[in-house]
Amino acid sequence: MAASSKVKVGIIGSQFEADIHAASFQIMPEEAEVVAVASPSPGHPEALAKKYAIPRVFHDYREMLAEQDIEMVTIAAPNYLHAQMTINAANAGKHVVCEKPLCMTLEEADAMIDTCHRQGVLLLYAEELFFTPKYVKAKEMADEGAFGKVYLVKQSEKHFGPHAEWFWDVERSGGGVFMDMGCHGIAFCYWFLNRPRIQSVLCQMGTYVHGQRTKGEDDSICILEFEGGARGLVENSWARRGGMDDRIEVYGESGVTYANLHMGNALPTYSESGYGYAVEKAPATKGWTYPVFEELWNYGFPQEMHHFARCIRSKEEPIATGEDGRIVLEALYAGYQSAQTGCRVELPFRPTGVKRPIDLWQGNNDA
Ligand SMILES: NC(=O)c1ccc[n+]([C@@H]2O[C@H](COP(=O)([O-])OP(=O)(O)OC[C@H]3O[C@@H](n4cnc5c(N)ncnc54)[C@H](O)[C@@H]3O)[C@@H](O)[C@H]2O)c1
Repeated sequence: MAASSKVKVGIIGSQFEADIHAASFQIMPEEAEVVAVASPSPGHPEALAKKYAIPRVFHDYREMLAEQDIEMVTIAAPNYLHAQMTINAANAGKHVVCEKPLCMTLEEADAMIDTCHRQGVLLLYAEELFFTPKYVKAKEMADEGAFGKVYLVKQSEKHFGPHAEWFWDVERSGGGVFMDMGCHGIAFCYWFLNRPRIQSVLCQMGTYVHGQRTKGEDDSICILEFEGGARGLVENSWARRGGMDDRIEVYGESGVTYANLHMGNALPTYSESGYGYAVEKAPATKGWTYPVFEELWNYGFPQEMHHFARCIRSKEEPIATGEDGRIVLEALYAGYQSAQTGCRVELPFRPTGVKRPIDLWQGNNDA
């Protein structure tokens, strides 16, 4: 493809995250254009195609992979499908953007990375927190030395639970909230501290309010110890009422910074009648609410997709890769093991034959 042409993108999936991908490419359209969408549910890919003027629709993503002009595929499908989709896309010669968490098992992660490497395509890991403007600002200040030596980084993401049924089914998700959102916090702390080796993981978790609905944990606390001495504290919940809460805290020898992802980008609002949409996972729009402007931009999704497209044109070096996703997955495995034993788990931690991370906590491990 000519280096000056836009990267042609095919999206796998047509619901929540697929919509974010499609919207993101439209918000920053300079480098890439979405030319196809593939998803099996009747009517859904057609609806996404109509909303974003995407010309081609497929119900089987493998047919989309046969389209010669598509260079990059984004995977916005349930977790248990990520590995096979990535491998199929790479074998079809497509660069791959895979949503978080990377996949279900460490063996799958290795196979995804190896296949992409062998096929000469990029495996890009869709961790938007590496692009979240407020968090990027905090990291820039830390890298400049604003806080001196950083000894603690905290990231927390909480709401009352995901929108789609498969997240609650650990067979398809691989775990509860720690798998779903702990992956963000682990990636964040690792990235923020400039990728020191994770030495150990200590984790506590439980199912506090959604026991009727899932075998997965709905609240988790995780402490990461990094080479060099810094710690990460990752808190996640699907049990937290009141909509989405996403924040960080950074503590160093000579300074501190706090960032609440939504507050400061929100309009404190009171409405008797309610209105259309406030922010992701907000349960209502009546009474006091905090509608966020430029929501996708404030998360960093358009900047993330823009960066990935530029990587494919060799204009930038990837800053979120399959290797990052694999490191996060290993820490997730260690976290579930730690929650089972009550002890800190040292890394490297490479259990084999485990079907999904949560099995280490629930004791379904045949290894
Ligand atoms: N980065 C983030 O902040 C973020 C936010 C939400 C979701 N995600 C991730 O994105 C992925 C999708 O989550 P979601 O919220 O969009 O879920 P969703 O349930 O809203 O959408 C899943 C989509 O996958 C499609 N799908 C299912 N089987 C398929 C198949 N065989 N071939 C092609 N498509 C298939 C479904 O039809 C649906 O369109 C998950 O891995 C999730 O963890 C990331």
